[in-house]
Formats: sequence, C-alpha cells, structure tokens
Amino acid sequence: MTGTVFDAPTVIRCKRDGGRLSDAAIDWVIEAYTDGRVAPEQMSALLMAIFLRGMDRKEIARWTAAMLASGPRLDFTDLGLATVDKHSTGGVGDKITLPLVPVVTACGAAVPQAAGRGLGHTGGTLDKLESIAGFSAELSNHRVREQLRDIGAAIFAAGELAPADAKLYALRDVTGTVESLPLVASSVMSKKLAEGAAALVLDVKVGSGAFMNSEAESRDLAHTMVELGIAHGVPTRALLTDMEAPLGATVGNSLEVEESLEVLAGGGPPDVVELTVRLATEMLDLAGIDGRDPAETLRDGSAMDRFRRLVAAQGGDLAKPLPIGRHSETVTAARGGTMGDIDAMAVGLAAWRLGAGRSRPGARVQHGAGVRIHRRRGEPVVAGEALFTLYTDTPDRLPPAMAELDGAFSVVADPPPRRPLIIDRITR
Ligand code: URA
Repeated sequence: MTGTVFDAPTVIRCKRDGGRLSDAAIDWVIEAYTDGRVAPEQMSALLMAIFLRGMDRKEIARWTAAMLASGPRLDFTDLGLATVDKHSTGGVGDKITLPLVPVVTACGAAVPQAAGRGLGHTGGTLDKLESIAGFSAELSNHRVREQLRDIGAAIFAAGELAPADAKLYALRDVTGTVESLPLVASSVMSKKLAEGAAALVLDVKVGSGAFMNSEAESRDLAHTMVELGIAHGVPTRALLTDMEAPLGATVGNSLEVEESLEVLAGGGPPDVVELTVRLATEMLDLAGIDGRDPAETLRDGSAMDRFRRLVAAQGGDLAKPLPIGRHSETVTAARGGTMGDIDAMAVGLAAWRLGAGRSRPGARVQHGAGVRIHRRRGEPVVAGEALFTLYTDTPDRLPPAMAELDGAFSVVADPPPRRPLIIDRITR
C-alpha cells in the first residue's frame, strides 16, 4: 500500500488479499486503533487477515515498533542495577515466573516484569498472582522503580506500556487470533522492550500446548523475537522448551501459586525446578552476574524470602488461604500401568472451561478453578486411583471440562521414553 491517507477497510482488504502492509499503513492502524479511531470489529478483521495471511519479517518489525511506540519506554539505567527479564510464549501449567523472579533477584539481578493475563487456553502470570488475597499488579512507573531499588523486582500489568498490546492482547484472546507468529512475536517484544529490562530471555514453547503448531514454527518465532530484541539494543536469547505435556502437576491460577510455593520451599515437581534453574542461569549470564548458584536459593530459602517481600510490597497476603473451587470431580484410572502422554492443550482447555480463563473481554476468572494432575507422564498408575481432580465454583462447567480430558491421556504398559525439557538454545 502507498499514500499517506488510510482507512481501516482498505488496510484490511490489503492484508485479506495477501498484500503486504506498508510501514505507513502499519503506523497508522496501530495508532488509530490505540486511540479508538479504528473500531474493535475492524481490528478483529485485520487480526484474522494477519492470522490467515501472515506477515514478512519487515512487516513484523514495523508492527512491533509501532506497538512499542504506542506508549513510553521505561529506562532504569540510572538505578545502576543489572536488569533482566524473561517471557514465555505461553503454555499450560507454566507458572515459572513465580519462582524464577525471586530466584534471579536473590542472585543479584533486578527484574522489571510487565506480565500478562491468560490468553486462549494458557494461563497468565497476573491472573495467578491475583489469586493471592490483596495482590495488586497495577503499579505506577514510580512504584516499579521503587520496588526494583528496594527488593529487586516488580511484576506488573503493562498498563500504559505498549498500550496497543494491551488492547490487541485482549481482542486476540476472544477472537480466535492468538496462534499467529507475527501477533505473538510483536505482542511479546513490544511490551518487553517497553518495560526497560537491559536483557531478555525468552521461553519459546514447543508442543501441543504451545501457540505454534510445529517445532519449526516455534524455532522461527524464537529467531524472529531474538532478532527483534537485538535490533532494539536489548541482548536477547531464547530457549525452546517442551510443552507437549503440562508443566508441573497443577493447571489453574491458585493451584499454580500453591505449586510455586512448594518449589520456593525447596520441593515441587522436577520439571518446574529444572526450567526455573535453567532460565535463571541464562538470565544471570546475560545480565553479566556470576556468583550464586540459582538452585541454592531454592534450598536455602533466600528465593522464598524474596517472593514474600515481592508479594507483600504489592499488597498480597500469603497468610490468607488460597481459593480453591467449591465443586470438584475426579478422573480415576480404568487400568493399572504407567501414565503415558498427557495432552497439554486438552488440559489447558479443561482448566479454561472450568473458569480459569476468559471467553469475553474483561471477564473475571475463577481463581480457584483448575486441574490437579495426580499421575504425571512416566509415573506408575494403580487401577482405580485418582489421575486428575478438576475444580470449579460452577458445577455446570464440570461436564464440558471432563469431556476435554476424554482421550487426552493414556495409561500404558511400558514407561514412555524420556523427553528432554530443554530442546534448544537460540542466540541469534
Ligand atoms: N505472551 C504474550 O505476551 N503475547 C502473546 O501473544 C503470547 C504470549
């Protein structure tokens, strides 16, 4: 497209028909949508066109830059801290941020983390943390600075940072336009570049519970985002990690907080611990911090201490019990053997149907809704014992959630082969 005067139908038709959007068209549509001149139904149509037609690298770079320019870019260099953050492309049971941020701060880095809410079948860090009584993610930029200085971390709603992403993210969540490489890459990188961390580690998911359909697409996403970060002056690297099965043994907001507290207390599922420690190692390396072993901070309580301080600073009260759905149903084993594959997507959808995610923009999530996994891949199963427990406050939600789990797992005779959690490391 050429020219300087734009209108939404023309931009939509250009992408719908497989054209490429000019820099000027991208700048216009992002700005006009952010300030309300492009209507949500018009942006929904454009997002669907992008979902179906894709974008080339140059369009993605410009779309990301326009989203970044829709708000301020924070800068903490004057604080003299080694700032670093991580972002995940979204998974099922992915509560890693909760133990990771305190681990990294206990090792001497500072983490300004702009986090998101649930997206599609995946959970969001903010929804999880808000299941702690009193916790608030609405922090002013001033408050973020104070927390970084005082306790080394802040986890906050992006708010005025990349406001284009805040609007697009909520719209994508309810219009079937989440699973798109250009839209995921620009969403992640616009807010991560805006939040002011000096370095960035990305956890790019691969498998049934990931937004990308294949490992090749996840690799492409990882390379695209690493290049975007570097182009904007932020050293960035990515790990490709397994998301065929849910991470850990819980999926759902308060259930995942409970499991994160176990990890911070030195226990918890081995995969959650492994990924936390590995991502922390990458973050500390990129931040130029050499010294403490991240695993040690889980054993000696220093990460737990940081987490408690972070939660308290943001109004949360860990002494109050975490909510749990009032109604539950259990799936039991029809036969004995070994737990085989557990489909992450199906478990994510079950948690979403139980009320852990949204189907309308701005809807309230149920903090106590979710799925507890009693037997994980490779664990022995005895006939008749509990395999999954589903929780919700709304009993009508149980049958459709149970239906999602139908055929989503298998109990097999022989232990399935081990699958690596960390698939690859992408530096450029
Ligand atoms: N995380 C984000 O911030 N955006 C996405 O689109 C996916 C994961």
